[in-house]
Amino acid sequence: MQRLVLLSVLLCASCHISLSLTNGTASNGTVADGLLENGNFENAPNATNMKGTVVVGRYSIPGWVNEGFVEYIKSGQKQGDMLLVVPEGAYAVRLGNEASIKQKIKVIKGMYYSITFSAARTCAQEERLNVTVAPDSGVLPIQTVYSSSGWDNYAWAFKAIYEVAELIIHNPGVEEDPACGPLIDAVAIKALYPPRPTNKNSVKNGGFEEGPYVFPNTPWGVLIPPNIEDDHSPLPAWIVESLKAVKYIDSAHYFVPQGRRAVELVAGKESAIAQIVRTIVGKMYRLSFAVGDANNSCVGSLVVEAFAGKDTLKVPYESKGKGGFKRAELKFKAVSNRTRIMFLSTFYTMRSDDFSSLCGPVLDDVKLLSIQTSPNP
Ligand SMILES: *[C@@H]1O[C@H](CO)[C@@H](O)[C@H](O)[C@H]1NC(C)=O
Ligand SMILES: *[C@@H]1O[C@H](CO)[C@@H](O)[C@H](O)[C@H]1NC(C)=O
Ligand SMILES: *[C@@H]1O[C@H](CO)[C@@H](O)[C@H](O)[C@H]1NC(C)=O
Ligand SMILES: *[C@@H]1O[C@H](CO)[C@@H](O)[C@H](O)[C@H]1NC(C)=O
Ligand SMILES: *[C@@H]1O[C@H](CO)[C@@H](O)[C@H](O)[C@H]1NC(C)=O
Ligand SMILES: *[C@@H]1O[C@H](CO)[C@@H](O)[C@H](O)[C@H]1NC(C)=O
Repeated sequence: MQRLVLLSVLLCASCHISLSLTNGTASNGTVADGLLENGNFENAPNATNMKGTVVVGRYSIPGWVNEGFVEYIKSGQKQGDMLLVVPEGAYAVRLGNEASIKQKIKVIKGMYYSITFSAARTCAQEERLNVTVAPDSGVLPIQTVYSSSGWDNYAWAFKAIYEVAELIIHNPGVEEDPACGPLIDAVAIKALYPPRPTNKNSVKNGGFEEGPYVFPNTPWGVLIPPNIEDDHSPLPAWIVESLKAVKYIDSAHYFVPQGRRAVELVAGKESAIAQIVRTIVGKMYRLSFAVGDANNSCVGSLVVEAFAGKDTLKVPYESKGKGGFKRAELKFKAVSNRTRIMFLSTFYTMRSDDFSSLCGPVLDDVKLLSIQTSPNP
């Protein structure tokens, strides 16, 4: 019996590793976590398939199929007075009016995957991108720029219902200048392992350790778009219940209170994160969490508001912008068998180093436990 358990643990450990050992493809042919094939567009079209910057032919960019007005952009290229800079390597693509890029990905049927890509808006207004893996699709607004570089990383998740998933990134915009569309660089994938509640925590993924792929060399975190544009959350178990995104941050580039990942509530009351948890009516619960700052020059009096059903708690945090956190807890009596746990940032804050990027308090290590009611003496 014990041997059986050990064997299945070993099997499972090895299957997980085989999925992530190699970039590109796992040992059994399904996609591995990381960049997609030519995901950073460093592999260029042949010169004969280019007319200036415009890509000619649908199969000209290795690994991709392109449609419509697609440009292949070299870092440092100028457009008007704008210098185009590329985060991953030296090349990116630009999607003009109604243009798209596609790639077929071998996936494991039934699994959830998250796509992370870098995008930058150029000259159009209200830029958006429609990301599709049939039958799911989501329109991600890329109008608000959260990083001072102009590039942001976006996450979007899907459930694989076939063995081959076709990812389509499409610019639905129609501008007077067909070249005025978003730049795309660095497209990656990550398999998601939906976490379960444990007897130590009824909140799932409370430390935000399970989430989208984070590029090792782009220090801007990953934006998790609002749920209205996303059926499956790239941050398993959590819903982004707001008009604006929340930012997923990693300990390699930010201060993170616990573990390797956390979220930064970057858009004031417009960026809230929630989860619905099972509770027992009449029982007392303790919701505990960490509030801090990401060591990203987000200076000021930050406030996180926590909600558990109808109970709320405001947690002030004085940030010097150099990293740090405190713990807080909200005790409440469950009035329903399902309780909505939600967090938002009361204020809008700008980074003190560039005065242009939105920032906010960091949330991490969210735990919910029922409190043992002390026995009567
Ligand atoms: C590939 O390996 C994973 C993990 O071992 C497994 O779940 C999946 O079914 C395999 N896919 C194929 C096509 O064999
Ligand atoms: C893995 O990535 C490296 C560096 O980006 C590249 O040289 C190599 O060809 C990739 N391997 C596969 C199997 O894609
Ligand atoms: C580029 O040209 C080479 C040599 O003609 C050819 O083998 C290759 O398939 C071409 N690549 C693309 C993406 O068309
Ligand atoms: C996004 O693209 C998909 C697939 O092409 C399409 O079905 C969907 O209607 C598009 N959504 C919007 C809002 O354009
Ligand atoms: C904040 O970042 C600075 C510069 O990268 C680093 O030296 C410092 O140790 C970080 N502080 C914390 C608390 O992580
Ligand atoms: C939860 O409460 C609702 C309404 O009060 C009820 O319909 C439902 O059966 C309950 N679910 C469980 C699992 O107790």
